Amino acid sequence: IWALGAAALLGYLLGSIPFGLVLTKAAGLGDIRSIGSGNIGATNVLRTGHKGLALATLLLDGGKGAVAVLIAGIFDPTLAVLAGGGAMLGHIFPVWLGFKGGKGVATALGTLLAVMWPVGVLCCLVWLVMALLFRMSSLASLTAVAAAPVLGWALSDVPIFGMVWTDLLRAALALFIAVLVFIRHDGNIRRLLRGEEPKIGQKKPAEG
Ligand code: G3P
Repeated sequence: IWALGAAALLGYLLGSIPFGLVLTKAAGLGDIRSIGSGNIGATNVLRTGHKGLALATLLLDGGKGAVAVLIAGIFDPTLAVLAGGGAMLGHIFPVWLGFKGGKGVATALGTLLAVMWPVGVLCCLVWLVMALLFRMSSLASLTAVAAAPVLGWALSDVPIFGMVWTDLLRAALALFIAVLVFIRHDGNIRRLLRGEEPKIGQKKPAEG
């Protein structure tokens, strides 16, 4: 039980590092939370016009999820899944920012790549195809994470009810990730439904 808690805590602490905020502050761009959507993620960092910083945010936010999973995975596959869940919670609800963090997409992709790479790769492809087709980051993100639990289940070794424990746990993590990301995109979902979601790189109105 101690190991379970330690893995989740490790994930949470790594996940709670707000790279988008740290990088934009270090670059002298002010507080990313007062720019664009106010989010601390790569999509919003791109709205500052600094593509390199946005890419670094994407890679570091993704990387922290992957690193948490890989470290815990040295010990046990169950711990790896818990660390991944912890990283998602850390990114979205970081104690350092009064529990107001990011939307979890980059961390979700990094976590999925480390926990079950075929699912992670396919989710990244879904994101890219949707982003190329519709040019809206949030729509691409929502589609990609919605695909994760379906793919996690479909690509498991023993699909349907014969799933082994680790498969089941991984599919459950994918579902957990999808639910968290959808909850944090409530403002985006409302704008998408109103047809007001801006295209990638465009400035946008405040959250609402
Ligand atoms: O990665 C977050 C993305 O899906 C939406 O971000 O800043 O457009 O709300 P944003």
